[in-house]
Amino acid sequence: DIRGVIFDLDGVLTDTAEYHYLGWQKLADEEGLPFNREANEDLRGVSRRESLLKIVGKKQYSEKQLQEMMDRKNRYYVDFIQTMTPGDLLPGTIALLDELKQAGIKIALGSASKNAQTVLEKLGIADRFDVVADGYSVQQPKPAPDLFLFAAQHLGLKPEQCVVVEDAAAGIEAALAAGMYAIGLGPSERVGSAHVVLPNLAGVHWTELRDKLSNDQ
Ligand code: G6P
Ligand code: MG
Repeated sequence: DIRGVIFDLDGVLTDTAEYHYLGWQKLADEEGLPFNREANEDLRGVSRRESLLKIVGKKQYSEKQLQEMMDRKNRYYVDFIQTMTPGDLLPGTIALLDELKQAGIKIALGSASKNAQTVLEKLGIADRFDVVADGYSVQQPKPAPDLFLFAAQHLGLKPEQCVVVEDAAAGIEAALAAGMYAIGLGPSERVGSAHVVLPNLAGVHWTELRDKLSNDQ
């Protein structure tokens, strides 16, 4: 029986991927590192440090330099998200959050981002979450199951009572490793290992999702 839903943030509830991209692109340009939109696709759902390491590639930097670059990119990102409003919620999210509340299903956030709380507040949905698991909650980033297990534990639920909604391959992997149901949003090349794959949350109803997941088992 499913009792809780854990939502990823970036690419699921809102499209901050563009802001992350612009921040990384600015940093890469300043550092003379090759980077573009296509390379950015590999960074979906990837932690800040792992993202930077992918961008620097073989070029050698000290830990201090890496730290400075992560801070610099984050300043650019934080500037971009100041302009966000509830209008930046992706279609279908409010309706689904309403239905879950109505059905007595617990709601958590499971995002790798250290900016998740700020983004939830900008989107006007912070008070809809029973638990917020973010970039401060655990050590091991997705695809490790730790973040989702943390969310489930704080909801007071077992992994098998939870379903994760994710747009990143690493996130689906993490959900499955946690022993949870996974709903993948986006192309099946990316999220095809999820129990259910959908283009996005527009027009998605909780009762239909629940039935699809139980038929899958
Ligand atoms: C999410 C995003 C990634 C981002 C990561 C860390 O997983 O999809 O693009 O790198 O969070 O976010 P942060 O805001 O802490 O740099
Ligand atoms: Mg995501």
